Amino acid sequence: MRSGAGLLTLILVLVSPACSRSSDSLPTDSGPEASVAVPAAADDFEFTEEEESVGRGEAIAETACAGCHALGAADESPHPDAPPLRLLSQTIDLDTLEARFADGSISDHPDMPDWQFEQIDAAGLVDYLKSVQSGPAE
Ligand code: HEC
Repeated sequence: MRSGAGLLTLILVLVSPACSRSSDSLPTDSGPEASVAVPAAADDFEFTEEEESVGRGEAIAETACAGCHALGAADESPHPDAPPLRLLSQTIDLDTLEARFADGSISDHPDMPDWQFEQIDAAGLVDYLKSVQSGPAE
C-alpha cells in the first residue's frame, strides 16, 4: 500500500510542472525535500563579527597554511610533520597563539615559517582555528 501511495505521489510530481501553480496544494507527505529552497541573495545574510573574523581567518589559512597543514575535517597534512589544524588545540593553547604569531614563537621546526603577523589578521586566524578544532576543547 505504501508503494502505491508513493507511486501516486511520483506521478503527481511528474505531472505538476505542467501546472506548477497548483503544486502548492499537492500532498506534502514526501517531507522537506518536496519544498524547493529559494537561495537568498548574499546581501540577505548578516554575519556576526565573529563569523566575519572566522571567514577572514579561513581565507588566510587557505593561502598561508594549507600548503603544509590539513585544513579539513579528516584529511592528511601535505607536510608530514605539520599537524592538521583541527588538532592544534591538543598540543597548544589557542588562546596564546595570537601572541605567539606576533612574536614568531610558534614552532622551531625549520619548515614552519614565521610571519610578520601584524600584516595579517592573527585574531581572525585564531578564531578560525578555534572553530575547526575537533579534539578536546583547549
Ligand atoms: C611550509 C610549511 C608550513 C606552512 C606553510 C605552515 N606550517 Fe605550521 N608547521 C609546519 C611544520 C613542519 C610544523 C612543525 C610541527 C612540529 O614542530 O613537529 C608546524 C607547526 C605549527 C604549529 C605548532 C603545532 C604544535 O603542536 O606545536 C602551529 C600552531 C602551526 N604550525 C600553525 C600554522 C598556521 C596557522 C599556518 C598558516 C598561517 C602554518 N602553520 C603554516 C609547517 C608549516
